[in-house]
Amino acid sequence: MQTRIRRALLTSVCAACALLLWAAYNHGIAADCSDGASESEIAAGLIAGKLLADAHMDQWKRKNPERAKDWVAEEKERHAIKPPADNSDLLKGDQGKGHKYGQYTELDILMWARETEKMVVDGSRIFHDANALGSTVAVSCDMCHPDGANTHPETYPKFQAQMGRTVLLRDMINWCIEHPVRGKRLDADDSKMRALEAYILAQRKGTPLNYGKH
Ligand code: HEC
Repeated sequence: MQTRIRRALLTSVCAACALLLWAAYNHGIAADCSDGASESEIAAGLIAGKLLADAHMDQWKRKNPERAKDWVAEEKERHAIKPPADNSDLLKGDQGKGHKYGQYTELDILMWARETEKMVVDGSRIFHDANALGSTVAVSCDMCHPDGANTHPETYPKFQAQMGRTVLLRDMINWCIEHPVRGKRLDADDSKMRALEAYILAQRKGTPLNYGKH
């Protein structure tokens, strides 16, 4: 009997907490819709939602430690990867809060950086993995191009003698996949090709473009 009461009590406390969080989160959004409240309230609502989602994620990670390994952090520990541009200035200038056409939030800036970096880090993972590249001779890109060295993405398009035509970066990636790596070429919109291009370009951050250069 006592356990049943305790259980009922616990359930109602949990329900009340969830309701409170939900109400707090919605309050920010509802207030903004009704009276055109400030962007900081919208941002606060979004950040509250994000914090709630992060809290759920943390809980899930604690329960599933094996499945929750952070592959992005692990890949960044293994290999030097250049970070994406810092866009926090956007919150200060004309495009920042209060401006008619801008109104970016901290959450936008965080999300852009995270998503961009994730694609580049995925490229690093494939670049360093003979199996992911489909190599039949256990060869990966980094064996000849450590940390993306000597890939010169800034020189494309350029005429490549071994293909007898002007090629793009992705054609050269495919040339290396077919020849030294001995794998199957990737379609231009294959997610692996897109990630490889992203990684190779990211590693040359700050290098001026100079197409056609040998
Ligand atoms: C066994 C060594 C080797 C491996 C492995 C290798 N490459 Fe290459 N890569 C080369 C050589 C040699 C060249 C120069 C070819 C040329 O310009 O004629 C080259 C050229 C390139 C270029 C063009 C560089 C420039 O200066 O224009 C890119 C891009 C490139 N490789 C990407 C890759 C990628 C991506 C992988 C993995 C899928 C890879 N390579 C694997 C040897 C290798």
